[in-house]
Amino acid sequence: MKKITIQNIKDFKNSISSFAALTAYDFTSAQILDDAGIPLILVGDSASMTIYGYDTTVPITMDEMMLVVKAVARGAVNSLVVADMPFLSYQPSVEETIKNAGKLIKNCGARAVKLEGGTQIKKHIKALVDFGIPVMGHVGLTPQSVHQMSGYKVQGKTSKGAQKIIDDSIAVEEAGAFSVVLECIPENLAKQVTEKLTIPTIGIGSGNYCNGQIQVFHDIMGLSKNKPPKHAMQHDTMYNNMLSIVKKYKSDIENS
Ligand code: KIV
Repeated sequence: MKKITIQNIKDFKNSISSFAALTAYDFTSAQILDDAGIPLILVGDSASMTIYGYDTTVPITMDEMMLVVKAVARGAVNSLVVADMPFLSYQPSVEETIKNAGKLIKNCGARAVKLEGGTQIKKHIKALVDFGIPVMGHVGLTPQSVHQMSGYKVQGKTSKGAQKIIDDSIAVEEAGAFSVVLECIPENLAKQVTEKLTIPTIGIGSGNYCNGQIQVFHDIMGLSKNKPPKHAMQHDTMYNNMLSIVKKYKSDIENS
């Protein structure tokens, strides 16, 4: 695989098959994803839970995100590394957005950033793009607003809710984003948005009609002690496998 560019990701819009993206939070998993030819690695603010053990994505700070982004960027030679902007690192002002996105790109090695929201952050996205920082949007279920949404619920089920998601997606595209994550929206709405936009949509829990799919690394591996969300495409139960190896090692030492 050659070094993946923003244009390569945009080109997936016209590809007949969908593309696979995954999250990563450390050097080794980034190397694995890169070796497997995953074109886009997201350093998700889900690191808040998977790495730091918080119960939502709300508490993670810029300093905590920067540590994981640096490690992933060192492991990903060809994959495009996109860094999530943590809660309140961009919402307060356009100036804060540019300053913090700049840190993720300049100091940590990410090549793009992701922000949650649509019309309300259109000017933040546009400012980043104008200053040369590629942006991935994220609409639908936006986990940084978990308290406002009263939990992790499918979004866009009513016609008003669906229209808001369409409007937000269009705002993200108009602001200059190169792609947009559609999280937990009904499949027919994801299809409609995918058909409307000229940038690729990347689905998670939003059915099969998106141009790409993204999952959390720990969810596909079964690496967490807790049950993953329903939409997670769990391929193994690594938590149990690793637990058995550690128990075996412990007993080997104790019995030697
Ligand atoms: O933080 C994250 O892992 C994400 C993906 C689930 C899209 O935003």
